[in-house]
Order: sequence, then C-alpha cells, then structure tokens
Amino acid sequence: MKPDQITHVESVRLSDDGRAVRILDQSRLPNETVYLELSEPEALYEAIHSLRVRGAPAIGIFAGYAMYVLALRSQATNLPDFVEECRGYRDYLNASRPTAVNLRHMLDRMLAAAESLPCMDVDSVKDVMRQAALAIHREDIAMCRAISRYGLSLVKDGDGILTHCNAGPLATSRYGTALGPLFLAKEEGITLHAWCDETRPLLQGARLTAYELQQAGIDCTLICDNMASIVMKEGKINACFVGCDRVARNGDTANKIGTSGVAILARHYGIPFYVLGPSSSIDFSCPDGDHIPIELRDGEEIKSKFFLQPSSLPEVRCYNPAFDVTDHDLITAIVTERGICYPPFSESLAALFGRKSSD
Ligand code: MRU
Repeated sequence: MKPDQITHVESVRLSDDGRAVRILDQSRLPNETVYLELSEPEALYEAIHSLRVRGAPAIGIFAGYAMYVLALRSQATNLPDFVEECRGYRDYLNASRPTAVNLRHMLDRMLAAAESLPCMDVDSVKDVMRQAALAIHREDIAMCRAISRYGLSLVKDGDGILTHCNAGPLATSRYGTALGPLFLAKEEGITLHAWCDETRPLLQGARLTAYELQQAGIDCTLICDNMASIVMKEGKINACFVGCDRVARNGDTANKIGTSGVAILARHYGIPFYVLGPSSSIDFSCPDGDHIPIELRDGEEIKSKFFLQPSSLPEVRCYNPAFDVTDHDLITAIVTERGICYPPFSESLAALFGRKSSD
C-alpha cells in the first residue's frame, strides 16, 4: 500500500464479480496485507467474530454487503420464502459480535430493503438489496468526512490527541471517526500529534492506529495503555478522541476495553474527552450503559496471542471483556455526522435526531 493511499484503503467492498465481500484482513496487519473474498455464511460470520473486519462502521458496511451476497445464493422463487431466508441470515450474522449496534442496524436495514417491495420478483429485490448495501457504504464515506470536520473544530494547531484503540480508515470507509480529524488536519496543514494506545489485549492501537498514522505521515507516538496517565500529567495531551460501538440514549458509551479508564484519567487531569461516531452507533432503544451487552472473548487473547510463548500457565483463568462503558458524565461531547452534542446528552442527542428525549 502506498503511503497516500491509507485514507482510501478499501477495507470492505464488493468483489469485482459482485458475488463476494472483499475485505482487508485486519487481523494480519501491519505485517501482512492480505485481502479475502468471502461468500459462505460461516466465513462471513467468522470474519466479524475473529476481527478480520472490525470497527463498528466497517462492520456495518460489511453487514450490508454480506446480506446481499447471501441473498444472491438464495434459490427461493417466491418472496415470502426469500425474506424468511434473509431473516435467518440477519439473525445468524447478528450473533457474531454483540456490542457494536451498527451491525444490527445495518442488518435490519438490509432486511427492511428485502421486505419493502412485496409485489416485486425475487431477482428485482436482490437488486434493491445491492443498491441498499452500496448506499450504506456511500453514506459512511460522507459520515467520516463530516465527523472529521466537526472533530477538527474542537482542537488547535499543535495539540496532542490521545486516541484509544482504532477508529481510523480501516475501521470505516475513509478518514475514520476518532482519527478523522487527524487526517483532515494533515490535509489542511494543521499539525496534531497523536498518542495511540490499546496495546492490550488486541494491540489495535499498535497494529492499526500507529500503522495508519505512520502511513499518512502524521506525527504519532505509541504508548502502552498504562502510560496514559503519565503523558496526561506531563501536559502532552490536549484532548482525547475515541470511537464508539454503541451509545445509549443517555450518552453512556461502549467502546474498546480501556476507554472508560482513559476518560476517568482525562477527568482527573482536566482534559476534554470526546466520543466521535456515526448516528448508526446510537441506540435510542437502549436507555443507558447497563443495557449494553458486553462481549466476552477467549482468554487466550490475554495469555498466548501475540506472545512467542504463553505468558501464563494454561489453567490460569481469564476475564476478557472486549468493551467497557464510559459514563456519560465523563464525556465532554459526542461528535456525530449531524453535529456536536453536549450534555445533557439525553436531550442533545434526541434533539439532533428529531426525537423526544423520552423516546
Ligand atoms: O476490538 P475492536 O477493534 O473491534 O474495537 C473497536 C473499537 O472499539 C472502535 O473504537 C469502534 O469500533 C469504533 S471504530 C470507528
């Protein structure tokens, strides 16, 4: 990949023959650049579950194409049978990762597209689903641009930004969400310095964020997760920018494990803490963080993944939650493609999306 191509990397798209989903396997980065073409239900499920495709918006785009590709396999000749098959695929893929609500939102949108034209023949409905999947992808590109612009308005030339995990081009379609302002700043000649973490459990900051920023020539420094406090204390951080996997309607936000710790530290040191994410990450049906399902992952990610030798004895018990919830009152603002929401979030989010705060 050429250095200037990182904001245009196609981490997810339809294959050239239009019958498979083509992804850049993020689990192999940064050392190997491997593209996969997937069309079997099990392979599509596995790609999400094993984080070959990850990042809430990228999972949403993937979900759109996956539903279309699976719809193409259907032999159903009448619409009710076809829709029933699509519903089965929706439920199957939805079980692959529970926390990022973009997956459910986009699967539902694809199913709604299949259900929307009861008088049409099955082939025409498949074409409508193709258009719906492409629209999800197009909207994501516009979303990244808008969030990047709003995010950039919150910082100034020379600022240090701490970002946790990866919410860049790989996790979306273009600039990313939390990393978007950094890419836009680079284009506009504004210098920001990124401090990247998430070096445990999955090293997404080290493997993906540092890689993306380095490729784009953006000044960045990798730190271990437990170093966030010292860089904040040393005055190196002016703002924290993080992504999100699900925002409850009161503003409580699930993001990669460790995010809430960064927010607590930011509060301690008086540093603004911003969540940047698309409207598809907001779950108005979810009242607060206690209702967000938290994915638990295999303990081997802690004990043996990324080590030459296992770090613990095989019988050691592990607890490996993939996400945590940052309390809404630790969040300075939530930046969406529609604008910036400030506390109280139950009111500002509802207003931005034209809902009553009690909805
Ligand atoms: O474990 P991951 O890599 O799936 O965690 C991803 C994150 O927490 C991201 O911040 C989130 O999905 C937003 S990506 C724009």
